[in-house]
Amino acid sequence: MSVTNIRWYPKYHIAAPENWINDPNGFCYFKGDYHLFYQHHPYSVNWGPMHWGSIASKDLVHWKHLPIALKPDEDYDRDGCFSGCGIEKDGKLYVFYTGNMHTPETADLGFDYVQVQCFAVSEDGVNFKKYPDNAIILVPETDQVHGGDFRDPKVWKHGDKYYMVVGSRTPDKLLGQILLYESEDIIHWNFKSIMSRAEGNQGSMWECPNFANIDGKDILIFSPQDVKREINNYMNVYQSGYFIGKLDYDTGIYTHGEFALLDYGSDFYAPQITQIPDGRTVMVAWLDMWASPMPEQADGWAGMMTLPRELHVKDGKVYSTPIKELESLRISETSYEDKIFYEPTKFEGVSGDIGELIVNIDLKATEEFEIDLRSSADEKTVLTYNAALQLFKINRDKSGEGGKGERECSILPADKMKLHIFMDRSSIEIFINDGEKVMSARIYPRDNSRDIVFIPTSGTFKIDSLKFYTLGEGIPQP
Ligand code: FRU
Repeated sequence: MSVTNIRWYPKYHIAAPENWINDPNGFCYFKGDYHLFYQHHPYSVNWGPMHWGSIASKDLVHWKHLPIALKPDEDYDRDGCFSGCGIEKDGKLYVFYTGNMHTPETADLGFDYVQVQCFAVSEDGVNFKKYPDNAIILVPETDQVHGGDFRDPKVWKHGDKYYMVVGSRTPDKLLGQILLYESEDIIHWNFKSIMSRAEGNQGSMWECPNFANIDGKDILIFSPQDVKREINNYMNVYQSGYFIGKLDYDTGIYTHGEFALLDYGSDFYAPQITQIPDGRTVMVAWLDMWASPMPEQADGWAGMMTLPRELHVKDGKVYSTPIKELESLRISETSYEDKIFYEPTKFEGVSGDIGELIVNIDLKATEEFEIDLRSSADEKTVLTYNAALQLFKINRDKSGEGGKGERECSILPADKMKLHIFMDRSSIEIFINDGEKVMSARIYPRDNSRDIVFIPTSGTFKIDSLKFYTLGEGIPQP
């Protein structure tokens, strides 16, 4: 089905030209282009046998669609080319992915699918040849690893060797875990260790692992399924987060701290990172969530990606900020300084369905505030902050169609708050205090809900500075 209505189709976020997408895959820099692939079902607006859709960019901002890179056309990937990564070696692009097979013959073992790791190679980043001896890694037969769930390889180089992490779980399906592999030549792999395993409420299956050294720390990123809700935490069906730690490459043992989320909104999953030539670590995630309604399916498409975000480790946490290249999307700027007001206020030139808003708020004078985005008489997406409770919230009860409810995160005490907000036709991403916390959400308002209203909920709202930018096109419009 092709796109029939662009009311919610992104202007500058990655989405498929039509039909279904989920996880980002194969994110890498190769021969002068950034490549991103994605889980794609090209024949409907629903998940189905997975292909790898393909898109590329010179600057991580302006993207062009490329032909589908991988199709499930071999016996070992007959039921889907599942998620994986991309890495350059000797002038060629290697993509590693999971071949998914339905296997009714294993049903009496408690699972009717088997997953194997495979790769394909490209000279140009567009056309891929699957390795003739796929699959290269089968699920290890031990009493420590579930025989079915074994997916989402991510490969990196360390010293002279290649390493791979793969998502997995224990055979009793109770604990998620990550398996570590090692290779001299990127083709032949040896199982090294169970690098990390859930402890307590950390999920029963760990999907989409990523690993990188960021600012001197070994960061393991993964997407755990079935983490149980803890009061107002872990409210999404699945989570995505990280550990900060240290990998001993000799033993394969990874020591780490607490699990923390990478994003506190309702729609963020399966992030993938890549380290680009200038040394930055850049992350893209699926700006959606399994089991959430996707009203855009009525318009012939489903799913989109977050903006690329740069990751840093600061004060024992991972911070994520929008990459600086996004400034090239800016068209016009409206700016205000030193505004103090006591009533709900709109600023001339600060409104729209697409835009970038940067607000610096004086929290000494502003104890509590509300900002309504995509607002009209009967719709609004509501952001609130209470400085005494240090709680930032987003509420989608009146956001239009799609998911409802509230998400929250706590903010470190400070005298100032910086909000950096990106709105596209059906998404918002809120970067709080230069990436201390991030909240991403899909919203489906009517096209004419475009006001931005600043509301002092405890008497006074003091804004040190405010900038609003209209933004240009980043991806081809259908
Ligand atoms: C995560 C995931 C991956 C899998 C892919 C299938 O969203 O479940 O584990 O490879 O989606 O589309």
